[in-house]
Amino acid sequence: MSSPSENSLKIGIIGFGPFAQFLVKTMIKQGHFIRATSRSDYTDLCNQLGISFFRDMNEFFESDNDVILMCTSILSLSQVIKSLPLNCLKQPALFVDVLSVKEYPRDLMLQVLPHDSDVLCTHPMFGPESGRDGWNDLSFMFDKVRIRNETICSRFLQIFASEGCKMMEMTCEEHDRLSSRSQFLTHTIGRVLAEMEIEPTPIDTKGFQKLIEVSATISMLMKDYMQKESTSRDSFDLFSGLFIHNRFAKQQLRNLELAFETIKEQLIKRMNEELDPS
Ligand SMILES: NC(=O)c1ccc[n+]([C@@H]2O[C@H](COP(=O)([O-])OP(=O)(O)OC[C@H]3O[C@@H](n4cnc5c(N)ncnc54)[C@H](OP(=O)(O)O)[C@@H]3O)[C@@H](O)[C@H]2O)c1
Repeated sequence: MSSPSENSLKIGIIGFGPFAQFLVKTMIKQGHFIRATSRSDYTDLCNQLGISFFRDMNEFFESDNDVILMCTSILSLSQVIKSLPLNCLKQPALFVDVLSVKEYPRDLMLQVLPHDSDVLCTHPMFGPESGRDGWNDLSFMFDKVRIRNETICSRFLQIFASEGCKMMEMTCEEHDRLSSRSQFLTHTIGRVLAEMEIEPTPIDTKGFQKLIEVSATISMLMKDYMQKESTSRDSFDLFSGLFIHNRFAKQQLRNLELAFETIKEQLIKRMNEELDPS
């Protein structure tokens, strides 16, 4: 555990769910001062962690934070951000979000937050499962959307850089384009395979064994997004958030459908040729 230093930040977290709880362990270890607020009461957990929990959002905003870290679910962000008592802010702060989609929180933050607040959009491309043994070599995407106080921003980024994350600066648009082809596609294929309940058979080929391995690996990594039962509404909220609030995901879903239809058509055409050569 590091002692607080001149680089220590006062970080106020909004939304103290599984991902925020995972992130704060490292922030506390690094000597930052953490406060949290959330829809549910996390007083006991915060007491155990040695950090302050505010039930009252006004008091949370009046406490003097360098950084306000938005860790709520994708689907609740709009409601949460529009209900913030921004008039209680004592000084301009750096607002950061960690949502798994990026254009959506960027637009909301620019629309709602005071003009003198800085805005940093980020996506740590890992979670409690994939980052269980540390963050070394794991990607951290960020976009400095509106930054005037470079010192606070770079101290915040240093939290991840100093743990060995691959720091990937790119626009929110580029993130959403890329992640629709990687993260959203992975979750979709993972869910399709889970839906089909594929299981080993006594006559598995090497190829099928690999498919089962891939399916199991995706399910394991998807636990980052499924702390609750994978069939629950909350778990589906996360997945549907990736779809609803990433404009590129719709095209990826269409591409997947098209690819499936193309292969199906090729098979049926060939079958018809074979069975009815005339
Ligand atoms: N899990 C990961 O691996 C991962 C990785 C990168 C980024 N992220 C992003 O991090 C954020 C948090 O993810 P998560 O894994 O902790 O799970 P989540 O289910 O996406 O979000 C849980 C958080 O959202 C809050 N919340 C949900 N509905 C709400 C509502 N109607 N009103 C107010 N607050 C509401 C919860 O508050 P209460 O707990 O108080 O109910 C909790 O703090 C998400 O935006 C996700 O995209 C997650």
